[in-house]
Amino acid sequence: MNISVAIDGPAAAGKSTVAKKVAKILGYTYIDTGAMYRAFTWYCLKNGINCQDEKASCSVINKVKIQLLPNDVVLCNGEDVTKPIREPFVSANVSYIASYKDIRLALVEQQREMAKSNSVIMDGRDIGTYVLPNADVKIFQIASPETRAVRRYEENISKGIPCTLEEIEADVRKRDYIDSHRSFAPLKPASDSVLLDTSFLSVDEVVEEVINIINKKLKEKEKRG
Ligand code: CDP
Repeated sequence: MNISVAIDGPAAAGKSTVAKKVAKILGYTYIDTGAMYRAFTWYCLKNGINCQDEKASCSVINKVKIQLLPNDVVLCNGEDVTKPIREPFVSANVSYIASYKDIRLALVEQQREMAKSNSVIMDGRDIGTYVLPNADVKIFQIASPETRAVRRYEENISKGIPCTLEEIEADVRKRDYIDSHRSFAPLKPASDSVLLDTSFLSVDEVVEEVINIINKKLKEKEKRG
């Protein structure tokens, strides 16, 4: 039987770091839905499209082919965009792109397709509420904005992406606002999700906690038959 685990939460809450590790331990496929919105945004910026212009952004839906490969590699129309999609210029625009319903519908279709044939752990903003409403396990992972900004700042620096802590914190807060206020599939906890505050936990502690939650939920499911 295929298992699906949804991890949602605000920007830079450590979802992907944790999801990747949990996927490896449990042998599930990890699906980074944020990377897809980032790749779409990268395509628009590269082609001179104003990401705040919904009509112009949606007009290229059929021209953008995004592929998630093993080892976190992201392709956009065959080009390796793994690194540039993490740059601040993409982060600054991605929440506009992600607020457009037609773009979401196209990417969600692909996400649901990927979840059909494997046990998956998928992270994003709307996985438990919209993409996989019947997911076996739903987790809403949070941390304070200050903690998240520091984590993302350190991650960027270690990857050689220049940035300042101030600009990262402003970006995180701005994206959270746009993501939670959009009309279609906004960022919010699913009513049946488990809230996990990671502000004072190490990565390994969060991984352990997520695995505990998954085991507990699966046992409960098994009992119910
Ligand atoms: O890693 P980080 O938390 O910075 O963000 P991400 O997961 O890479 O997602 C980047 C952006 O894509 C988010 O700020 C959202 O605007 C959008 N997104 C979304 O709307 N729905 C998803 N399922 C995943 C990402």
